[in-house]
Amino acid sequence: MNVPVSLTVNGKTVEAIVDPRMLLVQFIREQLRLTGTHVGCDTAQCGSCTVHLNGRAVKSCSMLVLQAQGGEVTTIEGLAQGEELHPMQAAFRECHGLQCGFCTPGMVMSAVQLLKDKPDATEQEIREGLDGNICRCTGYHNIVKSVQLCQSGKVTVTA
Ligand code: FES
Ligand code: FES
Repeated sequence: MNVPVSLTVNGKTVEAIVDPRMLLVQFIREQLRLTGTHVGCDTAQCGSCTVHLNGRAVKSCSMLVLQAQGGEVTTIEGLAQGEELHPMQAAFRECHGLQCGFCTPGMVMSAVQLLKDKPDATEQEIREGLDGNICRCTGYHNIVKSVQLCQSGKVTVTA
């Protein structure tokens, strides 16, 4: 039997009737059509499905949408402020912290969380903090540089 769900996504309230087995990532991608959140493994290993739920990074393939009931979700589409990129997005752009871009939304969402928890993270701590996110293009050096640039605050955020 389908059930109602209500949550806030990128500042907007969304309500739907869903299969109680629906994953949060399915809801985001298939119901809301916010396809910036990717599915790379479906087994909580790659991190490409990372979003923020109530201010914490979560792997949206490893939880049900009903577990986000009443919560506040931010996806990669909700990070920028109008024409102004989030500093982490701008840093990835400036440092070429991506190749094919598949891992990038999840990587950015995790990196935002990382610096929120540890603004002065060392290079080693950045590497360890992102170990739940896999880049199949193996562009880790520039990803770390991107996080460090964001950390420095010397990044241009205008599109
Ligand atoms: S799709 Fe969620 S961790 Fe890979
Ligand atoms: S940029 Fe291709 S998977 Fe990371």
